[in-house]
Amino acid sequence: MPVITNIEDLRVLAKKRVPRMFYDYADSGSWTEGTYRANESDFQRIKLRQRVAINMDNRTTASTMIGQPVTMPVALAPVGLTGMQHADGEILAARAAKEFGVPFTLSTMSICSLEDVAENTGRHPFWFQVYVIRDRGFIERLIERARAANCSALVLTLDLQIIGQRHKDLKNGLSAPPKMTLANILNMMSKPRWGLGMLGTERRGFRNIIGHVSGIEDMGSLSQWTASQFDPTLNWNDVEWIKKRWGGKLILKGIQDVEDARLAVSAGADALIVSNHGGRQLDGAESSIRALPPIVDAVGKQIEVHMDGGIRSGQDVLKAKALGAHGVYVGRSYIYGLGAMGQAGVTKSLEIIHKELDTTMALCGRTDINTIDKSILLPGHYPT
Ligand code: GLV
Repeated sequence: MPVITNIEDLRVLAKKRVPRMFYDYADSGSWTEGTYRANESDFQRIKLRQRVAINMDNRTTASTMIGQPVTMPVALAPVGLTGMQHADGEILAARAAKEFGVPFTLSTMSICSLEDVAENTGRHPFWFQVYVIRDRGFIERLIERARAANCSALVLTLDLQIIGQRHKDLKNGLSAPPKMTLANILNMMSKPRWGLGMLGTERRGFRNIIGHVSGIEDMGSLSQWTASQFDPTLNWNDVEWIKKRWGGKLILKGIQDVEDARLAVSAGADALIVSNHGGRQLDGAESSIRALPPIVDAVGKQIEVHMDGGIRSGQDVLKAKALGAHGVYVGRSYIYGLGAMGQAGVTKSLEIIHKELDTTMALCGRTDINTIDKSILLPGHYPT
């Protein structure tokens, strides 16, 4: 067993252990993957100010996101097909998040259902991400199911009414469960741990959806299903309709533009997430960390501004905090942990990020995550 010291180690191990089509699904962006790469590389350009001889005892990373206490301001992002990275993946990730004290967000496109996660985590509150599909009756039922599952926030995704093309998914024939083609069988035979896990669970399809949308027995390929069912007419009136129907905390995901951020405030959301969907939608969009500062300037006093995209370390979390993010989300960073080592791997990913965050904060001469601002950044070396 290799010694795991950073998120990259988990990625390398996940690549060995997870069937290619699911590893590729997570580790890809749309078209040229330019935005996907920029999400990570733009963090590298930001420089921190090293400060010394400052008492760094009694540090804390504890904070809140939408008023809920968190061990550090890092939530697990919604990721489709998480239960294909590892058997029962969503349940395992939710358990790891619960133990660590950070929010877990379940995707509509998950393998384990809302009910599976609630039943297997002692009904500990989690967040639920909603995709709006054409069948509004399904959305109404989904909202009621989220309430029954004790969800404490809805995360409404606004940037995926139609799907950005990810070449690898088409070439790999991505589907859940995988089709039994010769290439898939051979690839899965080289991933025995994954296969044994999958044989031991009955959760192998899109359980939020199958049996809940009339006429949907087999979703075939994800991209075809998305193209036929996701609602391309989704607009701000729908956002208000969902807010009213839900009545609880609402987070709007997929904001990159200042004008849209203002509309998110008008819609009465509790938080917005500056996000380009991990570089998986509009290839050519700006990296999330560059899109963040103008949005914080415009609406940061009226709404909690969160961000996702490119966070692979505690240093990245600290930089996002410095540029005004109230909290951040990690997707791939914990998905690699899950694929590599199941629940222990998700815990490991959170521990790695937490330790990096805590140590880096101290080396910047600061002891409380809630006081972090631009003054920890080197002037001229960060986006404005
Ligand atoms: C779905 O959210 C995806 O990015 O594949």
